[in-house]
Amino acid sequence: MSFYLSILQLWIVSVMRISAEEGTPLLVTMIPQTEVTETGSNVKFTCKVTGQYNPVVTWSKFQGSLPDSRSIEKEDTLTLLNVTTDDSGSYVCTGTSIMGTNSSSVQLRVYTALKFITRPPSSVLVYAGQTLNLSCSASSDLQTNVSWMFDGTTTLPQGAAIDASDNLIVCLLTSLMAVTTLALL
Ligand SMILES: *[C@@H]1O[C@H](CO)[C@@H](O)[C@H](O)[C@H]1NC(C)=O
Ligand SMILES: *[C@@H]1O[C@H](CO)[C@@H](O)[C@H](O)[C@H]1NC(C)=O
Ligand SMILES: *[C@@H]1O[C@H](CO)[C@@H](O)[C@H](O)[C@H]1NC(C)=O
Ligand SMILES: *[C@@H]1O[C@H](CO)[C@@H](O)[C@H](O)[C@H]1NC(C)=O
Repeated sequence: MSFYLSILQLWIVSVMRISAEEGTPLLVTMIPQTEVTETGSNVKFTCKVTGQYNPVVTWSKFQGSLPDSRSIEKEDTLTLLNVTTDDSGSYVCTGTSIMGTNSSSVQLRVYTALKFITRPPSSVLVYAGQTLNLSCSASSDLQTNVSWMFDGTTTLPQGAAIDASDNLIVCLLTSLMAVTTLALL
């Protein structure tokens, strides 16, 4: 009896070997391959795994571990909630079947949200002929660009200039001008 069982096992093993050699390769592709986002946001990665013999998908973080309480693994997707800068790194999905394993990764970079260091007051009252000096600066892990707009356009009023420190200087104000919104890029 056990002799026949062994023969059967041997036969199954060889059939599997043959299929493994002739089968289609296990293809694993991560979408996207890089992701740059702000702290507090949610990110979702999808791992496309194709191959025979129902490959199983597993997720891991290269150097470190998945943030347990904030990660959701659902078949071919990994969602990270409320990301922190510590979540930056490489996330790997691995497909495994009797064909072997294959993996693909995504590089996540999390930067701290842009913050104002100095922001102009929401309204200022200036007498005609005076000089108005409005300061604006912001900080971020990324390069920050401060830009000014006047009445919804990038065209500044006459006599206005932006100094080297991104302050808006308006000389010789002619009438009441509403210098309001600030856009940060
Ligand atoms: C792994 O999957 C990728 C993407 O589908 C493919 O290009 C590569 O050949 C696969 N590697 C192996 C060893 O099958
Ligand atoms: C997101 O994480 C921060 C700390 O990193 C925490 O203060 C905040 O409450 C979290 N927000 C949610 C919606 O869980
Ligand atoms: C405008 O204000 C900033 C900050 O208070 C100051 O550094 C800058 O020299 C001022 N510019 C002018 C032209 O007064
Ligand atoms: C910021 O400004 C610089 C120079 O004007 C430009 O090269 C860069 O692309 C800008 N960055 C962003 C995020 O807009």
